[in-house]
Amino acid sequence: MSSEVHHHLDTLLHEDRLFPPSASFRQQANVNDPSVYERADQDPEAYWAEQARQLDWFEPFTQVLQWDPPHAQWFLGGKLNAAYNAVDRHRQGPRRHKVAIFWEGEPGDVRTLTYEQLGREVDRTAHMLRHLGVRKGDRVTIYLPMIPELVFSILACAKIGAIHSVVFGGFSANALRERILDADSKLLITADAGWRRGGLIPLKANADEAVQGTPVEKVLVVRRVGDAAQAAWHADRDVDWHELAAKMPKTPVPAEPMDAEDVLFLLYTSGTTGKPKGIVHTTGGYLVGANTSMRTVFDLKDSDVYWSSADIGWITGHTYVVYGPLSAGVTMLMYEGAPDWPHRGRFWELIEKYGVTIFYTAPTLIRTFMKWGPQYPQQYDLSTLRLLGTVGEPINPEAWMWFHEHIGHGQAPIVDTWWQTETGCAMIAPLPGLVATKPGSATRPVPGIAAAVVDEDGHPVQPGSGGYLVLTRPWPSMLRTIWGDDERFRKTYFGKFPGIYLPGDGARVDEDGYYWILGRIDDVINVSGHRIGTMEVESALVGHPAVAEAAVIGRAHEVKGQAITAFVTLKEGVQGDEALVAELKQHVVNEIGALARPEEVIFTAELPKTRSAKIMRRLLRDIAEGRVLGDTTTLADPSVIEELKRLYKDSE
Ligand code: PRX
Repeated sequence: MSSEVHHHLDTLLHEDRLFPPSASFRQQANVNDPSVYERADQDPEAYWAEQARQLDWFEPFTQVLQWDPPHAQWFLGGKLNAAYNAVDRHRQGPRRHKVAIFWEGEPGDVRTLTYEQLGREVDRTAHMLRHLGVRKGDRVTIYLPMIPELVFSILACAKIGAIHSVVFGGFSANALRERILDADSKLLITADAGWRRGGLIPLKANADEAVQGTPVEKVLVVRRVGDAAQAAWHADRDVDWHELAAKMPKTPVPAEPMDAEDVLFLLYTSGTTGKPKGIVHTTGGYLVGANTSMRTVFDLKDSDVYWSSADIGWITGHTYVVYGPLSAGVTMLMYEGAPDWPHRGRFWELIEKYGVTIFYTAPTLIRTFMKWGPQYPQQYDLSTLRLLGTVGEPINPEAWMWFHEHIGHGQAPIVDTWWQTETGCAMIAPLPGLVATKPGSATRPVPGIAAAVVDEDGHPVQPGSGGYLVLTRPWPSMLRTIWGDDERFRKTYFGKFPGIYLPGDGARVDEDGYYWILGRIDDVINVSGHRIGTMEVESALVGHPAVAEAAVIGRAHEVKGQAITAFVTLKEGVQGDEALVAELKQHVVNEIGALARPEEVIFTAELPKTRSAKIMRRLLRDIAEGRVLGDTTTLADPSVIEELKRLYKDSE
């Protein structure tokens, strides 16, 4: 484990502040009987079956779990539909005219959708998909900004049994193409452009570039921006969302009865190789996980106004903007814009405007708010907030305390939720009516989830010692495989400890059984809560004609958690200068997206390698974080690397 992780750990282990839920919170909590942990532990299948019955099934399941490691099947024999559970079942009861979504877009656009209205839009979209030839099991790639049509598209796919693959709007044309090809999608849904801080994100232009040479036959285009987007139009391929929608019948589309194990969606995430992994989630187990955690971890009530600031392009948005909250019948806020547009009080203004009661966000944003100062939240009435949550990376205790004091008015419990694209829903998180929180700890596994911290041989480590975080039992919302690459699935997650899931994070458990997540132990960087593989950035860089070799590492960053530093050796005769630095950064943006832009590019005459030709990443990290070599420009001298390698010899 790297030295910065150890440093982080030392500070964490001195954290002994404890925040138990108030008596009044505990009393009203959905789960306030502590025996739930023991019950779920003794009979996890009974626990999950009980949770599963909160959903509407067209046909009941006959077996809870079939576990043939590493392959799990949950709720066998059961038939259900995720869109039916997220929308249609609420159209039939007292929630029919309840607001499902308050949408706030740029520039000043607002839209309110009741469950009934949402249901009609989903039906209309489902008609469009059918009209465009989409059938059960087909893949549909969706590349949209945070607009209601994104939710309609996702749920319309689910309703007819098509598999959606949402690609975050910040990804480049190349990244989009790679994901379309891997999923083999015939339809792409996009927008003419997206708004961001008054500027435009050229989604359609990216899409036009991305679909070339792919199986995409039709591109369904939402007119989000209009003329200003100046999007090119290909009449043989492009279909105007609004024109087509107007022609569709106004009849409901029956929800396709899906087998519990039918694939619901693919979501691509980064791993240790250059190729992103299509994480496969299935209908029954995923929805049970998402729905359960809304009721337990987020303590959701019918009276809540819930807001997760995550983009739907990531798993947090899938589970905690779409499937979790809607399946639980919530009223939620969906926000398209940025936290500082048109001003730095925007989030707090929205919380006041809608009377948000539950707010879920990322540590990197909290650190940004901290930097801006408490004068922004202080201008707004945040007294409706009763529960806060964080996700994406370890939260440093300072940020936790700031969130607690300035946003949660010292009252609202904070649920720090540890989980991953692969786990589908929160795995380690407090049940807020039961578990006293410690700033910086995600506390303990939720009921029905079994975790441990183990050493190289898979044996649990002593309390206080670091090791590999593992999940020792299957759970309903676990990924089923990697799309088209089951071998990679086996190797990545079950290769080290057979039958035991390896998330790729380091962790410690303290004397009280609290988990402290220490960050990734593989070549994955967590930039502002977004996973980026070092190999992805490295292969982008070596694709540039000036670059001979590249090594990419994550270094500690005050706001982003980690930032990307690229060490680059240039081809013979190429001169490294400021212009080339800028060009290489832009090249990575073009290849992957702005989220992967290196913070620094450092030219070096050679890369430090061990005798077995492994790049000495710890040395590079120490250089990037200024622990060795204050002035990195001296790196151009080959003797510097030789000297450093001697110092670091055998330490990797
Ligand atoms: O390293 C962990 C970190 O984010 C990784 C998962 O990234 P992704 O699949 O993109 O999903 C992010 C949103 C669920 C994990 O392997 N991570 C996520 N949440 C936390 C966290 N690290 C510490 N504490 C958390 N609460």
